[in-house]
Amino acid sequence: MAVDLTDGPDLQAAIRTISSLEEHICAVKLNFHLILPLSRSELLQINGLAHSYGLQSIADIKLNDIPSTNEVAIAHLAKMGFDAFTVNPFIGPDGLEATVLQAHGLECGILALIYMSHVGAHFGFGANLFEGNNQVTPIYRRFLEYAIKSQVDGMVIGANQTHILKEVSCRADKIPIYSPGLGVQGGDAKQASISGTDYFIVGRAIIQSKEPVRALTQLRETLNH
Ligand code: XMP
Repeated sequence: MAVDLTDGPDLQAAIRTISSLEEHICAVKLNFHLILPLSRSELLQINGLAHSYGLQSIADIKLNDIPSTNEVAIAHLAKMGFDAFTVNPFIGPDGLEATVLQAHGLECGILALIYMSHVGAHFGFGANLFEGNNQVTPIYRRFLEYAIKSQVDGMVIGANQTHILKEVSCRADKIPIYSPGLGVQGGDAKQASISGTDYFIVGRAIIQSKEPVRALTQLRETLNH
């Protein structure tokens, strides 16, 4: 579950949200919504709470910098109790591999972006690379190669990108696929699940629902069917 609370730095709201939904989810994902406004000790508290429920905590900061900079960011986040981090393979195979090695050294995981869910994702992830031998390769295929070679722990592919999900789940069936993009971004849970999604990342459809538990159980029922 993406704990994307929008009303200010609200530790108590985060605690209430996680506590009321913990039995229906397997992990929490925090991005800049909470990482920026909350203090280090507040984030430690949230991650400690998640762990007390047996949930993993993912820092969705889409790391995209040189290895020495990524290293500092990951060390801080690991000390705050995060278990995994999202990384943009745009940094290249060496940078991604260095980041994975560092995270693994801290017993943390890396989720690599392969193809995002938002409108306009094709401008970046679907852009074509013109190789010297007249071959054209979409960038996401390169990202997929880097992710497999670096032994990332998960790959992020939008739930609404069903053709990419099908292609990737055939090739790399041992690396779990995490899919955001349900509900507000138009993804269909059944279609994504059939196409290869292993874990769904859901934010607004739950967080902004008047009945979050109901929204979650409905989603689970759809998938069970
Ligand atoms: P929703 O749309 O359910 O957003 O409110 C879910 C969460 O996932 C993040 N998000 C993405 N993260 N690749 C990612 O790594 C994506 O393609 C993507 N799309 C959405 C979003 O920031 C929110 O926290």
